[in-house]
Amino acid sequence: MANQATLKYNDQSYELPVVVGTENELALDISTLRDKSGFITLDSGYKNTGATKSAITFLDGELGVLRYRGYPIDQLAEKSTFTEVIYLLLYGSLPTSTELSAFEAKLAANVEVPAQLAKMLDAFPADAHPMAVISSLTTSLSAYYGAEGDFSKEGVDKVAIQLLAKLPTLSSWALRGLAGKQLNVANPSLDYTSNLLSLFFAEDSNYKPDPTIVQALNTLLILHADHEQNCSASTVRMVGSSRANLFASVSAGISALWGPLHGGANQEVIEMLEAIKADGGDTMKYINKAKDKNDGFRLMGFGHRVYKNFDPRARIIKAACDNILSKLGVSDPVLKIAKELEEAALNDPYFVERKLYPNVDFYSGIIYRALGIPVNMFTVMFALGRLPGWISQWKEMIEGKEPIGRPRQVYVGALERDYVAIGDR
Ligand code: SDX
Repeated sequence: MANQATLKYNDQSYELPVVVGTENELALDISTLRDKSGFITLDSGYKNTGATKSAITFLDGELGVLRYRGYPIDQLAEKSTFTEVIYLLLYGSLPTSTELSAFEAKLAANVEVPAQLAKMLDAFPADAHPMAVISSLTTSLSAYYGAEGDFSKEGVDKVAIQLLAKLPTLSSWALRGLAGKQLNVANPSLDYTSNLLSLFFAEDSNYKPDPTIVQALNTLLILHADHEQNCSASTVRMVGSSRANLFASVSAGISALWGPLHGGANQEVIEMLEAIKADGGDTMKYINKAKDKNDGFRLMGFGHRVYKNFDPRARIIKAACDNILSKLGVSDPVLKIAKELEEAALNDPYFVERKLYPNVDFYSGIIYRALGIPVNMFTVMFALGRLPGWISQWKEMIEGKEPIGRPRQVYVGALERDYVAIGDR
């Protein structure tokens, strides 16, 4: 295979190195293109542009493959725990039991959150969106644990542990604080997922999370843990590339995830399904609205920038839906609507031609709701799952000593012109 490509323009030609990944993905290294040719590339939304080389997550959108550090997502979802997956993403290998215990002990030793941070909740109205709360509280941690940015191995590990250990509590404050309920403190004797449920729902010391709910949430957190260079992970890497601290970088990632085209879609899906139910459950009406360019409606939870086949996470979540809801004795009428929508879309040329399949957000909300999580907290759940991915991506960028991100542009504005005094305009 040639290790370089030739770009020809008029009577000039330019050699560009070819980069080949471990899964034989090919890339043109254009880092010297402008110096050599005066050209830059243009790619709105970075649909064809690689921002980095990464060893964390591999996904093949055509085949519907997703692996964290080489391990297939379906095996991790079935056999692993979220804490083990956090370790895997951060350090690159599955931990031994000794390593895992030591890691869990480090997390447990750092769950405490400065009590005065709770005063920030008083600044939010009761109907504030929880994503606004956790992005604010996440940045505020830099006032306590490392705004100066210690980018040594030890320094990075310290802030990673601090943020992983504290975000569950901050997320529970968004849920309980806005509702005027007592704020719970973390229980370091519980595993990560049980502690999260206890923070969210314990009204007294007798609270015991249902093992079915713990297992279901463990699976959902694993499925959301990383997804290579998605919008929010790229945001965390971009903000971190200026050597902003981890808390500020992840807070930016939380804000990016909030968007309805990204992680905010899981809340939008349930609201869409509820609207369809309220409108008599006519799924074909909404399939047709989604196809109508003049109608602003989109089938939320459908389509993906990279997956042009089934999102493997959606497949796992859909399969888990029936099992979890029946174990919990929950029946949710919107599950039937979701399945009908999927069936109709996958048999409609508009969706087939555009390779639009259910993504991770299409069924996840049905399970979150069955677990008792309020709809406006769904994207917070996505953020809790994605946290180890964001941190791992930031860590990889820092360890790689990557330069500050600063894209170019093609200027299409006014040519030079002289200032005109206001009286002469
Ligand atoms: C996540 O990148 C990641 O990895 C993200 C994520 C992760 O784990 O981090 O997987 C999580 O964000 C999943 C996506 C959640 N968002 C949604 O479910 C919102 C609904 N989906 C779309 O808005 C859209 O599919 C995106 C945003 C997901 C992808 O958008 P693209 O790649 O920019 O594609 P596009 O908007 O240009 O759509 C291509 C065509 C268009 O039609 P044409 O102009 O070619 O005629 O497909 C159509 C679109 O109109 N289309 C849809 C559609 N999604 C795309 N039409 C109806 N309903 C939809 N949902």
